[in-house]
Amino acid sequence: MKQTVYLNGLFCPMEQASISPQDRGFLFGDGIYEVIPVFNRKLFKFDAHFDRLNNGLDAVSIRNPHTAEEWKSLLNQLIERHPWDNQFIYLQVSRGVQMIRDHMPADNLTPTVYAYTNPLKPVSDKIIQQGIKVVTLEDIRWLRCDVKAITLLPNVMMKIAAKNQGADDAILVGRDGLISEGTASNLFIVKQGELFTPPTSHKILPGITRLVIENIARQHNITIHDQELSQNDLEQADEIWLTSSTKDALPVCTLNDKPVGSGKPGPIWLKVKDYFETTKLAIIDK
Ligand SMILES: Cc1ncc(COP(=O)(O)O)c(C=O)c1O
Repeated sequence: MKQTVYLNGLFCPMEQASISPQDRGFLFGDGIYEVIPVFNRKLFKFDAHFDRLNNGLDAVSIRNPHTAEEWKSLLNQLIERHPWDNQFIYLQVSRGVQMIRDHMPADNLTPTVYAYTNPLKPVSDKIIQQGIKVVTLEDIRWLRCDVKAITLLPNVMMKIAAKNQGADDAILVGRDGLISEGTASNLFIVKQGELFTPPTSHKILPGITRLVIENIARQHNITIHDQELSQNDLEQADEIWLTSSTKDALPVCTLNDKPVGSGKPGPIWLKVKDYFETTKLAIIDK
């Protein structure tokens, strides 16, 4: 189906959308993005995504060109133009077009705003039954992983390295020997029925799915610890999950070619996944 995209105030067919090659997003990766899931045609946790977008834009000194209400209105128009009940919206704000390339941004640039939507497909039965395969890799990213910057070259390189090792993804190990997250996801482990996840810091993206899962765990009396995790903790885990807006929580069943726990998606994952599925629509705005 032909997709309609939003670019700088206008909706147009994706093939017709174009930006200047002098856009600082193109030249420097100078911009911030968000991915927002849409369930039953409603934006999921819009306020949390908007806050994170604002925090990222503030961190890199780009002004947010829209208020929350303006964003909601344009994203809802994008949703309405597509038939899928479940979607995921990609939006990005770059610093704008600058005719002379210079690391130093010119004053008063007009940010470039782009958004489009895709159908959100359910996770495959194969993954639900067998989980995914990951390897650990050195986290080669910068020290502001809390900022959702469009500059994702290290993530791309680590994803390729994982694939070259026959894995679906990688879990990243920092220079301090501690586990941070996945290449595009947060990390949870289960040990003796309790959940552990690395605390928010400059080393990880504060994932919205991470927050939702922490809340679900608390509501269902699953003890949760925000705690630094070592590679040894990972290797000893009964369950490992990777969480993100487009995949909810994915069970990791093979780590560096060894089975995680029983080698099958674990019981706590199954429980939390079911809670998530059944409460998704009720917590859409909460
Ligand atoms: C590096 C990284 N960590 C964590 C996440 C998960 O964030 P969220 O749950 O908000 O999608 C993402 C999502 O893209 C990510 O790229």
